[in-house]
Amino acid sequence: MKLPPPRTPDPATAPPLRWGLLGAGWIAGEMADALEGTAQQVVAVGSRSRERAEDFVARHAPNASAHGDYAELVADPEVDVVHVATPHSEHLEHALLAIRAGKHVLVEKPLAPTPEEAQQIADAAREAGVFCMEAMWTRFLPHVDVLRQVLEAGLLGGVSTVLADHGQLLWPDGPQRLADPDLAGGAMLDLGIYPLSFASLVLGGITAATGLGTLTDRGVDRRMAYAVQGPDGGVGALSTDMSALTPTTASVNGPWARLELEADFYTPTTMHLVGADGVVLDTMTGDPMELHRGLRHEATEVALRVTAGELESPVMPLAESVRIVQLMQELVSSLR
Ligand SMILES: NC(=O)c1ccc[n+]([C@@H]2O[C@H](COP(=O)([O-])OP(=O)(O)OC[C@H]3O[C@@H](n4cnc5c(N)ncnc54)[C@H](OP(=O)(O)O)[C@@H]3O)[C@@H](O)[C@H]2O)c1
Repeated sequence: MKLPPPRTPDPATAPPLRWGLLGAGWIAGEMADALEGTAQQVVAVGSRSRERAEDFVARHAPNASAHGDYAELVADPEVDVVHVATPHSEHLEHALLAIRAGKHVLVEKPLAPTPEEAQQIADAAREAGVFCMEAMWTRFLPHVDVLRQVLEAGLLGGVSTVLADHGQLLWPDGPQRLADPDLAGGAMLDLGIYPLSFASLVLGGITAATGLGTLTDRGVDRRMAYAVQGPDGGVGALSTDMSALTPTTASVNGPWARLELEADFYTPTTMHLVGADGVVLDTMTGDPMELHRGLRHEATEVALRVTAGELESPVMPLAESVRIVQLMQELVSSLR
């Protein structure tokens, strides 16, 4: 039994789109750097401060215009697609701003902090006839395409159990937005979404979820262990923690074989196909240097779909993004 080759399109030859980055923070910088050397062009950056926009452009996108206002960015006629790269609490306002200006949108994960807001974004995009997708970049990485092919071919004999965790030491001394309830802080929306979205992908959706965990003194979720079930009865054992670095690995286990994803499973990592006797049958070697350069693959997906006149991606459909937000809300609410 062997792993098939990835079908991932080449980011250098995809149809070019002109990107506007909304919010000059960390992930916007990673995206600008990831798009270097691809067909995609960052043509504009919008910040709440002109100075920060200019500083960002100097560091990450020397050919882009700097806008000191988000409204100015979305009105820029040079921009085809807006990457909404602000804290989760702001996604609704900023996605609607771009959609109403007629721009396609790639909205950072999670699509929004509540299912109602996520649905509003999806509905507004559909109504405006613009493309919209949650930036769950893991789904577009080469090893995850190989994983999808393995599952489609039934090589594991079905999915019995999926195991995945995502813990990073980001609290109490990390970024303020994780600690702050007003910015929709907490481990689940930032980190726990990766194991959850991964489990949803491999189980073919999630029909039930339950968990245990603890909140911080400010009432956001600090850590959680959660169990999920898919429509065919397969189960997932998942965890997230923003106060400890955990292995951040994953495995997809079936009766005939399993896939083991090394750390960090949600980045361009190494994946092994392991037989039922525990012997490694094949390995796809990841590139640890790639890390967030892997964001280029989700941008390529946006470019291909937009050019084809499609309004969403079948790899990360909006209904699934909304469902994942709903599950996260249920899980976190159970701690209160
Ligand atoms: N795909 C990934 O691997 C990944 C990794 C990290 C984060 N993310 C996602 O990206 C989003 C942003 O995260 P980040 O880590 O990039 O955050 P960040 O570094 O804090 O940047 C967010 C930017 O949003 C803007 N902003 C607008 N309203 C704001 C407000 N009320 N408070 C604070 N900032 C505000 C700010 O830019 P200006 O001041 O310039 O306007 C800020 O720099 C989150 O939804 C997160 O889940 C994704």
